[in-house]
Amino acid sequence: MAGTASATDEPPLVIAPPPGPRSREVGARLAALECPAFEERRKARSAVAGADDAHGIVLARGRGSNLFDVDDNRYVDLAAGFGAAILGHGPSAAHDAARAQLDVLAQGLGDLYASDVKARLLERLAAIYPAPGARVLFGQSGADALTAAIKTVTLATGRSGLIAFDGAYHGLSYAPLAACGLKESFRAPFAEQLNRDVTFVPYPRDAAQAAAIVERIGALLDEAPKAAVLVEPVLGRGGVVPAPAGFLAALGEVARRSGALVIADEIWTGCGRSGALVRSLDEGLVPDVICLGKGLGASLPISACIGSAEVMGAWARGGEVVHTSTHAGAPLACAAALAALDAVDGGLARRAAALGAQLVHALKAALGGLAVEVRGLGLLVGVELHSPAAGISACRALLARGYVVTLGGRGEVLVITPPLTIDEGVLMGFPSALAAVLVEAT
Ligand SMILES: Cc1ncc(COP(=O)(O)O)c(C=O)c1O
Repeated sequence: MAGTASATDEPPLVIAPPPGPRSREVGARLAALECPAFEERRKARSAVAGADDAHGIVLARGRGSNLFDVDDNRYVDLAAGFGAAILGHGPSAAHDAARAQLDVLAQGLGDLYASDVKARLLERLAAIYPAPGARVLFGQSGADALTAAIKTVTLATGRSGLIAFDGAYHGLSYAPLAACGLKESFRAPFAEQLNRDVTFVPYPRDAAQAAAIVERIGALLDEAPKAAVLVEPVLGRGGVVPAPAGFLAALGEVARRSGALVIADEIWTGCGRSGALVRSLDEGLVPDVICLGKGLGASLPISACIGSAEVMGAWARGGEVVHTSTHAGAPLACAAALAALDAVDGGLARRAAALGAQLVHALKAALGGLAVEVRGLGLLVGVELHSPAAGISACRALLARGYVVTLGGRGEVLVITPPLTIDEGVLMGFPSALAAVLVEAT
């Protein structure tokens, strides 16, 4: 298998059934200190799974694709920090670059007196855009990049309306929250403060739906012009649904016809995760704005909003219309991002594509008789079970066997997003572990 695999990955080793005593002790402290929303969510999920224990594990360290909890259990990390740890944990080229940068200059002065490493990353990111003159705005999170993108399309079109998708997730700060189709409960208490001009349409699951939805979007845009269509090339948190072939290109055409822009939210799919540096470009869509985050900093917080010369030109309006923040384009994260992009370009995206296809194949073979659906692109893979209760229970049973996975959709989809460097043999131990968990549950 081409690309850089972690040399240190090992299979799971669970010595204290999770959550072990130390995880329980720290978990209780967390529950008393953190915003209560998180504990409430843990309790609600436990209740759905019919379990009375709301504690999770508490992590202590990581190396490659292994995570260790405070009870010294060793897990295989199939979540990678929600997709951010593309090079795994512990030593990596990105961490070496950040460490070297830490000794030289950790913090610049944003857009006032920027750093040389920020200039290098700007050049690198602008060159990703397939037309000359692209410009870049930095942030620290995916939500930051989406906020910058939404401001950009608003300035460029003079309109505020958006078309977004049911099940979509773009982050929870106010601009992208308005376009969050994943859970009404995320938006409802804040609805009065959110953009009201957002129309949601279904995310297509097959070619026939794709054609109908493109037509519907065309009709909506003819009825009332919008600033942009906001799309994930793979509906990620909504349940790992890859866009049907041709959908993204057709979406670009229908938007352009009515003067709407297209924002590609590549926060999860980009930087190699889905087997491409930028998924939508590989799918024949040239978005007006591309958002990258998560894996961009290989675990350091950095995100980028990359826009065409034309749309980003809308910021050049004189006076003080700016979008910036203290840590935007901070040297430490920029150094890590340059090294992460080197790794992605140097074979990691290709490796993710090949290894992901192999994983999907192995999962389908192992789960053949269990009537579950396996889908994905690159190392962004979902296994849809029958219900949220089944998903939450499987997630816990997998943890007990030493596999860390997260959930998507309403909880019915197991989401598998390991570091892109994960050892092939260690990853391929997962399908049989999942099959065993699902058979036990029947
Ligand atoms: C597609 C997509 N966009 C945006 C975000 C928000 O990113 P962040 O959590 O870094 O704000 C996420 C997070 O999961 C995401 O999956």
